[in-house]
Amino acid sequence: MAEIINPGSRSTKAYDVVILGASGFTGKYVVREALKFLNAPNSPLKSLALAGRSPSRLSETLKWAAGPNSTPPEIPLLTADTSDPDSLARVASQTKIILDCVGPFHLYGPPVVAACVEAGCDYLDITGEVDFMERMEASYHDKAVESGSLVISACGFESTVAEIGLLFHSRQWGGPSVPNRVDAYVSLESGKRIVFNYGTYESLVLVAANAHKRARPVIPGAAPPKDTPIIEYQKQLGLWGVKVPSINSAVIRRTQATLAENPHGLPGANESVEAVKKREEFWSRAKLPSHFGEKLGLKSLFGLIPIMIFAIFLLVLSKSRVGRWVLLQFPTFFSLGLFRKSGPSEEEISSARFKLWFVGKGAGTKVVTRVTGPEIGYVATPIILVQCALVVLNDRAALPKGGVYTPGIAFGLTDLQKRLQDNGISFDFISKKSI
Ligand SMILES: NC(=O)c1ccc[n+]([C@@H]2O[C@H](COP(=O)([O-])OP(=O)(O)OC[C@H]3O[C@@H](n4cnc5c(N)ncnc54)[C@H](OP(=O)(O)O)[C@@H]3O)[C@@H](O)[C@H]2O)c1
Repeated sequence: MAEIINPGSRSTKAYDVVILGASGFTGKYVVREALKFLNAPNSPLKSLALAGRSPSRLSETLKWAAGPNSTPPEIPLLTADTSDPDSLARVASQTKIILDCVGPFHLYGPPVVAACVEAGCDYLDITGEVDFMERMEASYHDKAVESGSLVISACGFESTVAEIGLLFHSRQWGGPSVPNRVDAYVSLESGKRIVFNYGTYESLVLVAANAHKRARPVIPGAAPPKDTPIIEYQKQLGLWGVKVPSINSAVIRRTQATLAENPHGLPGANESVEAVKKREEFWSRAKLPSHFGEKLGLKSLFGLIPIMIFAIFLLVLSKSRVGRWVLLQFPTFFSLGLFRKSGPSEEEISSARFKLWFVGKGAGTKVVTRVTGPEIGYVATPIILVQCALVVLNDRAALPKGGVYTPGIAFGLTDLQKRLQDNGISFDFISKKSI
């Protein structure tokens, strides 16, 4: 059994961060983003290693991430395979944090979480697979509390933008008024096609196949209203809102559940008296709504047609083994071009942007806020994951000693929002009026 290391003995670790799955489509963008902060002035990232199955693919990744005109930095390349627990234990024992980019997480995530929890190292990932996140919480939370391992999933566009965006929204209410409900509208824009890589498609097929098995966490208080329309026009946003299954809603429900049990947030591993006071004030003022819902925001209802066709293929075919095989063989056909085995081109990535609107209503008041940023999968997600890692390196004493948590409850009080803002993801107040 590996030695259990608490946050106090983290200084003995060889690396601040190891990026696992660095050779993947998303992983290589995470490496490129992390290199910007490696040994940069004021950056807590002093040592980095890449891990994966193939040293030659990791080496190619490093060359690509350094850019065509630079010599790649000397970064250790570690061999690790999720089917080899010893290789994961070796990596976890050498680093403070593992950034896991190996998906589908449903298949490959559990042994990585297990190795981190066993070694007492922190774990962040970019999954959007709700079933995986909830399973990890049920299986590893108590052990992670004990070993001092912080396990935080969904540190990418899903679901950190929605979590930090909702906290930003709740701070715009001021005075005694509180939102009863907040509806978010996500809109993706591009001058070219919006395309995602096969890895996300594969994860989506598995999520659809296992959706019926998921037990929902119990949230104290009244059940959310069920009377919201499936399609509605939001005049102020100029968008049609279409109800879809939402990863963000599921993650925010877990944050609300944790907050209901811990109204003053989670105690830090080693907090000062001032830090305790600041945390208690922050969370007792956080006005999270009793209901959060998310809708797809479309400029035209014609945009709904390909999404519905893809959703029908996904729902019908993902239920059988043969159906899943067919779906996985022909991603571009079944997703009507939304997913591609070779992933999006650099031009497609650089021309895409997102807007996530928050419309809150309560006590005769309506507040609208918005988060905007670059392409979600391979620009925003690496920015967010790397900034989450920097927060953990900088502020470890203020974060819980260990446990499996959502990004909102773990990072809500930290400077993550400011960091995201400084790196191109902007949080804006739009309007407040009586209704
Ligand atoms: N939250 C978000 O908004 C967001 C954004 C982007 C991506 N994602 C998620 O990130 C995941 C990865 O997506 P992707 O498009 O980057 O996929 P990908 O290109 O297929 O990359 C997968 C990576 O996992 C590695 N891998 C596969 N099996 C492994 C194993 N047994 N042991 C160790 N490493 C293994 C691969 O390494 P090899 O080089 O050895 O094959 C590769 O580096 C997906 O689940 C996707 O949904 C989430």
